[in-house]
Amino acid sequence: MSNNEMDSNSPYSAVVAGTGSCLPEKLLTNEELTKIVDTSDEWIVTRTGIKTRHIASPQETTATLAAEAAKRAIASAGISAEDIDMIVLATITPEMVFPSTACFVQDIIGAKNAWAFDISAACSGFVYAVSIAQQFIQSGKYNNILVIGAETLSKITDYKDRGSCILFGDGAGAAIIQKADAKKAKGIIYSTSVSDGSGWESLNCPAYGSRYPADKPLEDANGIYMQINGREIYQLAVRRIVEMVNECLEKCSLSIEDVSLFIPHQMNARIIESVAKRLKFADEQVFMNIEKFGNTSAASIPIALDEAVRTNRLKRGDIALLVAFGGGLTWGANVIEY
Ligand code: ACO
Repeated sequence: MSNNEMDSNSPYSAVVAGTGSCLPEKLLTNEELTKIVDTSDEWIVTRTGIKTRHIASPQETTATLAAEAAKRAIASAGISAEDIDMIVLATITPEMVFPSTACFVQDIIGAKNAWAFDISAACSGFVYAVSIAQQFIQSGKYNNILVIGAETLSKITDYKDRGSCILFGDGAGAAIIQKADAKKAKGIIYSTSVSDGSGWESLNCPAYGSRYPADKPLEDANGIYMQINGREIYQLAVRRIVEMVNECLEKCSLSIEDVSLFIPHQMNARIIESVAKRLKFADEQVFMNIEKFGNTSAASIPIALDEAVRTNRLKRGDIALLVAFGGGLTWGANVIEY
């Protein structure tokens, strides 16, 4: 089932007014992983492009990382927490089963006038959340929406499984999506969101939900950790991301050359390179920071977006293309005139 949004008739545009991110201080290097599982720096770098990832301390949670990223995005947009009307937070590692992590963030940052909720769309969470924010802005209902992608994947990673533990890191990224005059700024030009629940078995974490409540033993005790079918996901991700980029270009009447920065979900450098090659993106058009952070699921795109803004890789007026693929299965994209 897919859903496309392009509301060119709205007098309002939804612009990215500010960005922020927060990474835990602690680093986990490939060298350190070789002491935990049977792997090597060479294998990890060659197969994934990852060198280090950031890992939350026992005191750091999804909400604390998210709140810090949110504060930085609020400062960068030049607004105050009380100006925020709505908080949408994407995560698969929430603070608790309930209340939502977004409610914790609302409390920490003092966004008294916002309503707050989480969405669960794994690695596509941030692009889904941006598309939700776009709708509430373009309808004219709200002025400022805080969108966050935040994860502490280390808390559901099996550090005995060498096929998955090398991939994941923790962190949070945020953006303020703001109402603007559509005649003056384009902002989010197009969003597309797709789900295929029949593929749920490829990527999941079975514990903590109603299928396996605390008093019912898991069929496999490892179900408290993320389960991934890496090879299957690899192939599907390449195919779907290429399809989505082509859809975005066609719907927005853009060419590959018009895209200033392609910001894909940072799941594996080889996946990104394969996609970029198929689409004929030049190296400088493709944003990659997986080497430093690993795969941070819903946090990966907003962390990358913030880094791109702060390092001047993305400038006002540039076209950014955000594309994600992940558990659900879910996939989606946003085309943004920054
Ligand atoms: N170190 C050394 N060897 C390893 C390691 C490791 N860390 N992990 C696996 N191997 C071995 C395997 O055992 C296998 O050995 P065998 O041939 O003797 O059986 C061999 O390496 C090849 O294994 P593959 O799984 O086929 O390796 P592949 O090239 O597919 O790379 C990877 C695996 C990196 C996981 C890749 O498939 C991938 O990136 N897939 C997508 C990742 C993904 O699913 N991301 C989404 C995660 S979910 C989320 O983001 C929330």
